[in-house]
Amino acid sequence: MSMQHESKTTPTFDYGYLHDHSRVTRFRETPVAPDLFLPHGRSTTLSLEGRWHFAIDPFNSGLRGEWYRDQGESEGDVGPPDYDFDNWDTISVPSCWNTYHDAYAYYEGAGWYVRTIEIGPVEGSTRAFLSFEGTSGETIVFVNGEFAGYHDNGGVPFSVNVTSHLRSGSNRIIVWVDNSRRSDAVPGDFFDWFNYGGIFRHVGLYIIPNLSIHSYFFSLTDDDRVAGTVDVSEAGVHQLRVTIGADTWILETDNNGHLDSKLPIKPHQWSLYDPYLYDITVELMDSDGNTVDAVRDSIGFRRISIKDTHVYLNDQRIFVKGVAVHEDHPERGRTLTTEDRLKIIAHCKELGANTIRLAHYPHDPEMSRLADQYGVLLWEEIPVYWHLQFNNEVTIDRARRQMQALILRDRNRASVVMWSIGNENPDSDGRLRFMKTIADGVRGTDPTRLITAACLVDVSDFTVTDRLADVVDVVSLNQYYGWYYPGIDSVPEILSSVADKPVMISEFGAGADFVCNCADPPKWSEEYQARVYADQFTVLKECDNLAGTFPWLLYDFASPRRLNSHQRGINRKGLVDRSRDHKKLAFDEVRRWYTQEF
Ligand code: GCU
Repeated sequence: MSMQHESKTTPTFDYGYLHDHSRVTRFRETPVAPDLFLPHGRSTTLSLEGRWHFAIDPFNSGLRGEWYRDQGESEGDVGPPDYDFDNWDTISVPSCWNTYHDAYAYYEGAGWYVRTIEIGPVEGSTRAFLSFEGTSGETIVFVNGEFAGYHDNGGVPFSVNVTSHLRSGSNRIIVWVDNSRRSDAVPGDFFDWFNYGGIFRHVGLYIIPNLSIHSYFFSLTDDDRVAGTVDVSEAGVHQLRVTIGADTWILETDNNGHLDSKLPIKPHQWSLYDPYLYDITVELMDSDGNTVDAVRDSIGFRRISIKDTHVYLNDQRIFVKGVAVHEDHPERGRTLTTEDRLKIIAHCKELGANTIRLAHYPHDPEMSRLADQYGVLLWEEIPVYWHLQFNNEVTIDRARRQMQALILRDRNRASVVMWSIGNENPDSDGRLRFMKTIADGVRGTDPTRLITAACLVDVSDFTVTDRLADVVDVVSLNQYYGWYYPGIDSVPEILSSVADKPVMISEFGAGADFVCNCADPPKWSEEYQARVYADQFTVLKECDNLAGTFPWLLYDFASPRRLNSHQRGINRKGLVDRSRDHKKLAFDEVRRWYTQEF
């Protein structure tokens, strides 16, 4: 029997897979800039929504084993790999992996998404970006086995430049997403909502000309004209055609490709009862007058301002009749549908409310588009929530970039009137420095809106001593008199301790889990919750300097830190239960408050 000699290939084994921890961290150093590419006003060249192969990877074997290098070709006779993408289960994008499989319900860690896309030849005069509207925690993108980009801020949009990685024909896209809670992140590792994981919002490929429109921002000036800024991707003087409704102007950028103009149009103003939107087109023209790039949007023009201690929409004083909501659905987690969002707006209107606080992090961009259409104001927020590493430059930078990404995404939305830079943070020097940095960044990028934050109330001596109150335009306060502590009668004293700025109550309320139909309703009954609101409103109606209120909150929501027998993993302070179908007794209490004359 002739010995079949094995061919003499030198056996190899990748010990780096076992030993080299740097493989887990090396791509997570330089996050992509929030303004690398802004997909606003553009339609996707290729949507990447749909089924992706997916697996969770709690031990980060994929980064250790460099699985992302896999091009799908057979690796000859090296040992069988610990993965085979094409045989993995598939999951739909966008979605939250927690709602996909019981085994993933509470999973926190890394997960891999793999799919192949077919594209034609990418013209030399174009660039290609993969844009994500929202993933959880950290994200690394690989294209055809090459590292394309890293992002470290969950829930805000980001894009990676894939121009040099794409090829004509079949392209393998591999995305690593890790929703592990981290103390140096924003939010930190402890918060009162569910830590959903995954690619939970739209993903799309955008192929655009090298010379293109980078960003645009239109707003109403103090003298009722339209201010417009447009930035072109390359320096130089460029011609732009700007169309607002039926009016068109040919304008020129400065030498840096930047246009800063005041257009001689007195627009019909957007308001709550008349949410008027203009169709806007910005075209970049070449020297022959041909359009080489264009963006389209529908924008409302309104002004939000403060006089004395009150808020004005256009020139009308308004009381901010708010309600807060989380991006949390029993079946869909953070990946709400348009119907879910329309229901939020319908419940808001049914309450008689005119403003929604999108707590405590950026919600899907569709929410602000719908609020524009239906005439609802929005408070938008980044999760500078409770304790963060306020002295950590990495954390400060993450918060600054998160706020910038949110502003760049929604600054053309008329509905968005307030940027919130924090919620219930301890008043320390480091935190104050942190907040000033964020506030300066906001004022530098968007001076047209109000800055607020949920400041701390000193519940023992009924004052607002929080130094953040000096940084913001509107002082907001969370107080739970009647639930976490007694003493509703001290609220007027607290409010009057803020003399020179509008003051709002950004959270108040109580939990409710059942109806008791009894003489002396106990805590957790809907009757008790309704009475807490009734008592609050009795006191609040005497507070002349109160500029707004936000009952906490519209719907019950999931929170793994809520574990008593009434809560069962749910924060039950909603005016409506988590199914969105059962209105609690307090719903009518709040509606009575909002349908009175203010
Ligand atoms: C806090 C916090 C909320 C939380 C609420 C509550 O004020 O800001 O995120 O859910 O209280 O205790 O229900």
